[in-house]
Amino acid sequence: MTIKQQVLKVLLENKGKSVSGESLGNKLFCSRNAVWKAIKSLRNDGYKIIATTNKGYSLIEETAEFTAETIKKYINCESEIILLDEIDSTNNFLKQKAESGEKSGTVIIAKRQTGGKGRLGRSFFSPQGGMYLSILLRPQISAEKSLFITTAAAVAVCRAIEKVSNKKSGIKWVNDVFIDNKKVCGILTEASLDFETGGLYYAVVGIGVNLYYPKNSFPNDIKSIAGTVFDSEIDNDLKSKFTAEVINNFFEIYAIDIDDNARLTVEYENGEKETLFSGEVSIKF
Ligand code: BTN
Repeated sequence: MTIKQQVLKVLLENKGKSVSGESLGNKLFCSRNAVWKAIKSLRNDGYKIIATTNKGYSLIEETAEFTAETIKKYINCESEIILLDEIDSTNNFLKQKAESGEKSGTVIIAKRQTGGKGRLGRSFFSPQGGMYLSILLRPQISAEKSLFITTAAAVAVCRAIEKVSNKKSGIKWVNDVFIDNKKVCGILTEASLDFETGGLYYAVVGIGVNLYYPKNSFPNDIKSIAGTVFDSEIDNDLKSKFTAEVINNFFEIYAIDIDDNARLTVEYENGEKETLFSGEVSIKF
């Protein structure tokens, strides 16, 4: 963790209270000048930190909430966004809505899930502090090509991670996103098939991201492989931004980078473009 991240962590732990520059320096084994630089940089990022003589620094109580409206502020597409406090699974909820005619593009987000679903019948640990969302699509493609919906979601998450946290991430066989060999995101795409045509009635792509370390740690069975995008708790504004980035990127890729045959076009850092078939997709960022 950088000094800046550690300073933020201490201020968040003491939200609303003052922490002196000296005690921050002692705690983090750095100079008061280094603390001051970290504070300056955090303020540049938008954190409201006040300095009071003889008392120190205090992070002002976060007033922004995580709501559909705060997310929409950063959204650049027309999607319907619904935010729920808690649901068993956003995928299940959206599949029910799809059955009763919900329109393509609708996004369901939950602050936590009580029965988050992973692939192969596994569960997906979904406490407060993660990002859990599902997107409804009604694509005119055959079922076998629907793998590219998952790929588009994985690429969207990687791009959002890079933009918002500046970290490099990688996609491991389409469904998982890793940072430093730890899984930070899982994707589950479920579809309803039309057996007559071999097409899809609809697809629901569910994306779960571990944003920061959960309060009561990860369960034992995933502790050694699970990681987080951020090193410490983030505020609701950043959470809204990250969520919107995932949604914006997804629709951008879904519209532009997937061709009529549902193949994914990727652009490399040198500007070269290549269209990939499913067996070739293994993208490193
Ligand atoms: C996996 O890692 O096996 C896939 C995990 C997918 C989790 C997401 S969270 C949002 C959506 N709702 C669910 O119940 N699952 C997906």
